Amino acid sequence: MSDGITRRQALTIGAVGAGVLAIGATGLVLSLQTPRPASNTERSPETPAPETPAEATVGGWAEPEVLSARDGLLEFDLRVTATEVVVAGSTVRMLTYNGTVPGPTLHLHPGDRLRVHLINDLDEVTNLHTHGLHVSAEGNSDNPFVHIAPGNSFDYEIDIPDDHPTGINWYHPHHHGLAADQVFGGMYGAIVVDTDDWSDGGSPRVVLVSDTTFVGGGVVAVNQAQRMMGRTGETLLTNGQVAPELRGLTGSAQRLLLINACASRYLDLSFAGFDATLQGTDSMPLAEPRSVDRVLLAPGNRADVTVTIPAAATELVAASFDRGRMGMGMMGGQSTAGADAVVLTALPDAAISAPRIRQNDTVAHPDLRTREPNGVRTITMSMGMGGGGGGGMQFVLDGREYSHDRVDQTVQLGTMEEWTIVNDSPMAHPFHLHIWPMQVIRESGSETSGIDLRDVVHVPEFSSVTVRINFDRFPGRTVYHCHILDHEDLGMMGIIEAS
Ligand code: C2O
Ligand code: CU
Ligand code: CU
Repeated sequence: MSDGITRRQALTIGAVGAGVLAIGATGLVLSLQTPRPASNTERSPETPAPETPAEATVGGWAEPEVLSARDGLLEFDLRVTATEVVVAGSTVRMLTYNGTVPGPTLHLHPGDRLRVHLINDLDEVTNLHTHGLHVSAEGNSDNPFVHIAPGNSFDYEIDIPDDHPTGINWYHPHHHGLAADQVFGGMYGAIVVDTDDWSDGGSPRVVLVSDTTFVGGGVVAVNQAQRMMGRTGETLLTNGQVAPELRGLTGSAQRLLLINACASRYLDLSFAGFDATLQGTDSMPLAEPRSVDRVLLAPGNRADVTVTIPAAATELVAASFDRGRMGMGMMGGQSTAGADAVVLTALPDAAISAPRIRQNDTVAHPDLRTREPNGVRTITMSMGMGGGGGGGMQFVLDGREYSHDRVDQTVQLGTMEEWTIVNDSPMAHPFHLHIWPMQVIRESGSETSGIDLRDVVHVPEFSSVTVRINFDRFPGRTVYHCHILDHEDLGMMGIIEAS
């Protein structure tokens, strides 16, 4: 067995198809691939997306195709289709963007325009959310209320502001009730906002981590109890592969853009042995990069981390993380902690030259702690008996399940508010607000040092986090919710309107 594959994962893959481990064991690996250049931009809207399965390598490193904006515009077709892809040597049916898992990486610059012609070839409703982008949520911009029926298409047009921070973002579907199923099925892709053109080997490595469970050649359907717990996939995927090998010259720096696209799993990443430096979190560069041994990514979170290729093969492991329990009795006693899983294995390889690492300039962010908030509010996340018809749990914000025709929070543009997110349940919930970043100022009673900007904030069980939010622009309605997507689908979401 390849040492890059944990026993748990090996068992999972074994259930999908044999042969995989044999290939892994022979050490048949492809060397580090550079992303292919953009090709979709030239395609006319009538041309069908390629039907070919995703390029797959066992053990080798693979990254999604990169679509880069040119002359201020990135315009392409994004076709949502259930199709066969190859994962760790086995053919499985997944939900895909343009036929691959993950979908293409979108590379944008501040000030660019993004035009996505989304075509829904599924037999259910979908839509598109650009998680992390500070853009308008109205009309055909990052509007989570768009409804794209089966067989229909929709033209998104999203303007990235000139002063948009450089950082890591991602896209995924956001139709209430189907978000977890569609993301778990394979629908996600990276969005990198960068000032660089990524020429001469200067591109960072996208490390998009997700999980799913395969059964009978497809993605497993989960039951109501698993939805309430927040589903955890048995197979951890890194760019759609299992524990790929990242090769590089010993001592060379690699810039990893890590994205947690798992429906519910927290990634408790241990960087021991990697001499790692955290350069940015979510959509923002850090004002002061710092060395890190451990980075915890809640579902939806991202991290920009520079690592050094060690002298011996070293695994980057996502340690088992306990995000609490459902409660007492019934299935309540069951833990949410999964097994440790390997994200990637770094391998020294003298034949690979060191990549050019370019770090974006850090932008000074105003420290919201120096200002007096114009308003203060509390959002309470709780679980109660009585949901799902017959003894299930209800997942609510301020005591209410999501309703698409009720505005829960009204804020005034031009104001800055302090929000305390209270979790009075026995399970952790990652709190996410669209469009406006949150500056964490207090967590579990202790003050935050430095400027800590995030768009998903982990709120441990029976705990609270206080953030400040600058509602400086973007009038309109959008949402805030738990980023355990099953909880969002079960009703842990609310609507905010800024005017
Ligand atoms: Cu990652 Cu409301 O989304
Ligand atoms: Cu979002
Ligand atoms: Cu939750």
